[in-house]
Amino acid sequence: MKKREVHIVGNWKMNQSLHEISQFFIEMTKMKMELKCKAWIAPQAIHIPILKEMAFTTGSIYIGAQNCSQFDSGAYTGEISPASLADLGVEFVIIGHSERRAIFGETDEVLNQKLLACLKHNLKVIFCVGETLEERQNNQTFKVVEKQLLEGLKNLPQDKAHLLMIAYEPVWAIGTGKVATAEEAEEVHAFIRSQLAYHKDSTIILYGGSVKPDNIGSLLQKDNIDGALVGGASLKPQDFKQLCTSASVLM
Ligand code: PGA
Repeated sequence: MKKREVHIVGNWKMNQSLHEISQFFIEMTKMKMELKCKAWIAPQAIHIPILKEMAFTTGSIYIGAQNCSQFDSGAYTGEISPASLADLGVEFVIIGHSERRAIFGETDEVLNQKLLACLKHNLKVIFCVGETLEERQNNQTFKVVEKQLLEGLKNLPQDKAHLLMIAYEPVWAIGTGKVATAEEAEEVHAFIRSQLAYHKDSTIILYGGSVKPDNIGSLLQKDNIDGALVGGASLKPQDFKQLCTSASVLM
């Protein structure tokens, strides 16, 4: 039995056509899952309303966003407002994914503003942290994660802290097929938990980076690993279902 509810979160990134999305939900409906874990999906923002409708028919899949603006409204062409996400009934937002940090230059300061903007609208946030390969090889993992947490979670209001989840995603494990061992991940998860100012015991901490149906079991055995943020293996309904089934067994 896990101490906290297990969450399987699919990060679809910039993938899935409309046809693939409807196939995904047709298959998911056919499989009639008995979900004991939480199953969440973050599609491309443009697909959120469609997914919300389709997920409604399958029942228990929650839909979120992969990113949002730090601003509520105004002259910010191309941005996604957290207020509009809340309006749409979006359940959660991923903030600080390493692709946002590395490709789009999002700094700890901006990510902190985005986090606070989401919390203001009572959106749940999956806040991502993780070191690069070079940082790991130079024994900087804890230092890097500590800084990302310190700066990213600055001024976290105590009365909104229950909306926060953390995802530990070592950059070297994302999309590379190189998964951190369960021991390597657990060590960082325990460290992250020790750094939290509020709800140390109840905060969900996900692992992400090349999670697949065949390696999720050993990761979820660890005390401080409460689920997974999954890219590639969340795109196919069979894989997603298998991930959720492995997680449900532990609940
Ligand atoms: P991956 O991606 O599962 O394809 O490694 C994880 C992520 O980027 O969240």
